[in-house]
Amino acid sequence: MCGIIGYTGKSPCKNILLSGLYALEYRGYDSAGMALLDNKGFTIIKSRGEVSRLEEKMRAFHAPESSCGIAHTRWATHGEPGERNAHPHVVGKTALVHNGIIENFKEIHELLLSKGYVFASETDTEAAAALIDLYYSETGEPLSALSLACEKLCGSFAFAVMFEDREGELYGVRVGSPLLIGAGDGESLLASDTAAFPANIDRYIAMEDGGISRIFRDGFQLFDMSLSEIKANEQPLTQISRNTHKDGYEHFMRKEIHEEAAAVLKTLAAYIKNGLPDFSASGVDTSILKRLSSLHIAACGTAMHAGLFAKFLIEKFLRIPVFAEVASEFRYKEPIFEENTALLVISQSGETADTLAALRLAKERGIYSIAVVNVPSSSIAREADAVIYTHAGREVSVASTKAYTVQTALLSLFALHLGLLRGNICESEAQKFCFSLSRELPEKIDEVIAREDEVRALCLSLSQKESAFFIGRGVDAHICAEGALKLKEVSYINAQAYPAGELKHGTISLICKGLPVIAVSTQLSTAEKTAANIREVAARGADVYLVAPADFPQDGAKYIFSLPKATEPLLPILAATVTQLLAYHAALLRGCNVDKPRNLAKSVTVE
Ligand code: AGP
Repeated sequence: MCGIIGYTGKSPCKNILLSGLYALEYRGYDSAGMALLDNKGFTIIKSRGEVSRLEEKMRAFHAPESSCGIAHTRWATHGEPGERNAHPHVVGKTALVHNGIIENFKEIHELLLSKGYVFASETDTEAAAALIDLYYSETGEPLSALSLACEKLCGSFAFAVMFEDREGELYGVRVGSPLLIGAGDGESLLASDTAAFPANIDRYIAMEDGGISRIFRDGFQLFDMSLSEIKANEQPLTQISRNTHKDGYEHFMRKEIHEEAAAVLKTLAAYIKNGLPDFSASGVDTSILKRLSSLHIAACGTAMHAGLFAKFLIEKFLRIPVFAEVASEFRYKEPIFEENTALLVISQSGETADTLAALRLAKERGIYSIAVVNVPSSSIAREADAVIYTHAGREVSVASTKAYTVQTALLSLFALHLGLLRGNICESEAQKFCFSLSRELPEKIDEVIAREDEVRALCLSLSQKESAFFIGRGVDAHICAEGALKLKEVSYINAQAYPAGELKHGTISLICKGLPVIAVSTQLSTAEKTAANIREVAARGADVYLVAPADFPQDGAKYIFSLPKATEPLLPILAATVTQLLAYHAALLRGCNVDKPRNLAKSVTVE
């Protein structure tokens, strides 16, 4: 979603801010803008569309050489994505960029209209800028103005703020949306993400939720909302945390699919000791795991599909009920928590607003929480009782690929760990499965990727269609759900996933000549049943694309991708990689912007 970058320091900052905006592009946006502050006041430049358009505009306009500024990529929520609504918003002496949503902005609007403020945009952000300005004009003190404004604002937001008569100072506010401080030698920054910090910045601080920061050239101060100063927890900024290079690949999505084997290897190595699962690094309380009589899972999108995959395995290994629910529903449904239960949340970014809200709800109810997260120091990672990190490295493409593959591999290991802990699985069985996951799986993923041309060939026909179905049974139904999401997301082909047996209860009426049906069949126990469903749709003219081991029934399939020979529980994960490549190549053949699909944001920090 929206991206924030702010700079104060020894150097002219417009190019630093522009590079930051380019690095934040992956989050998804539809307009961009910058405010520069020097002794003549603010200079504001905004543009609809890409950051490159903002850059062109700045060149044509000869933007001043200021060394203090804030910039923003906006993903429209309130008002169309034009220049008028783009950030920064300037009201009086206050310039502000914002990530998140001000829920009570109408009420704030009314209040400010009565005080004589007029508004130039349709945004909630401008109301926040005006409120801060009101308090700044009353108190003459930035921290008090921000704290008073935050008392009145409801919602989730991160702000970077400048005051016209305080050149060289930036202010940050974090309430529910992430904001980081980058610390360097004679320069300091604020950003939504470490990716936006220049290479010479070697330390960062994740602001506390409910915190305000004052940033100078030579340092920064952190405060809570009552303006008591708080201690900073500085962290080193590693190459991994800021790596946003394509390393010779045309797209991040392809690069990230190609990184899957290495990411699985690295992640599982962190949780296997002496050939057996060992989650002690996560701080998870084993005594709670031993007592579990049920488990809840909440997540969104792709992470939810990894959650459904985990549900399947945990129910199979543990024979306890697992309730998986999208976080946006979970948080509003008054979930029923049984005794001896826990909540597992899954999130690549660790910042997804709904997933974070689900976690907070469970915590309020005294439920033990475990998070599977890829981004260290993210909100979810900081708030969960235990954190199991995926070490997938930075995922830039909006479409999640390697994060999902690593989540499914890691959750398989976690399910195994639970099974072993509770005596449902014996040590030798566990050892074998650990070996398959950590050694065999990366090898087989690379085998699949080496056959990328075969997948691309399948896409020549698929890419010309406007809709498709995915069918599979059991765990394969979850792989299908993720395959369909990926195809929709990046190629805009309307893809729907169904448990294969469900199709004839209605949806089969849509099957017609040439309609693509992607069938995933990886489990021997359901192979014949899925084969029957394939024959049913083929008989009605569908073009069936089968993803299955070579020795599974193939009647009715027009196109086949034979999965490599592998231990059965690994096959669904391999099939997922195939469907990711399918989505990637279909999108490419359709001329879509693969890494930045329309309307989507990488990290959904508003509900
Ligand atoms: C995946 O391709 C999506 N872009 C999206 O569904 C994503 O998985 C979802 O928004 C959850 O994100 P998270 O993993 O960062 O919580």
